[in-house]
Amino acid sequence: MSDVIWKLREDHKKLARLLDLIAREIRIFDAGERPDYELVEIILEYVINYPDLFHHPWEDLVLEKLRLRDPHAAESVGALDQEHAKLAHLTRRFATAVHNVMRDEELPREWFVDVASEYLTYQRRHMQMEEVIFFPAALRGLRAEDWDEITQALKRPQDPLFDEGAAKAKYDRLHQEVMKWGKPVDHHAMGETPAKSER
Ligand SMILES: [Fe+2]
Ligand SMILES: [Fe+2]
Repeated sequence: MSDVIWKLREDHKKLARLLDLIAREIRIFDAGERPDYELVEIILEYVINYPDLFHHPWEDLVLEKLRLRDPHAAESVGALDQEHAKLAHLTRRFATAVHNVMRDEELPREWFVDVASEYLTYQRRHMQMEEVIFFPAALRGLRAEDWDEITQALKRPQDPLFDEGAAKAKYDRLHQEVMKWGKPVDHHAMGETPAKSER
């Protein structure tokens, strides 16, 4: 299997674990208790500074190649770059909401839950579409030289949260939480019906 797709799938599994952690905190909020805002904040900071910067651009490059090799299959994937732009917007909107709620700003509870749910649902659906439609099409369509070109075009730095030996002091606490809570999630589980607070 292409190394690129293998890494993208690994990213998805890691992200799914982080989304589960966020969902747990939102359920706590929904139940009227105080969630661990700091944890949610650091997850979103990580998402903005690693997957958003290195995962999505790789996928965009893969889709570019697929358009050349198999335009019909590429069409079935749809407007990936627009989905990535929307995801970036939803992530930042949610991060701002968390930031404001931490500063004790009065926010309607229902609105906050909606903002979180929209982010979680969109992110999960997006990944599921990629696992089911995009990655298999790319594996069928791209050639060895395409994969080489993609890896050369965009080199990825170490993952500051998950890579062994990476400088993850900043994410130490989050790393521990993920290890404690997050079990590896396979992509079939990502389409599960979300909990009440995630709808
Ligand atoms: Fe994506
Ligand atoms: Fe993805």
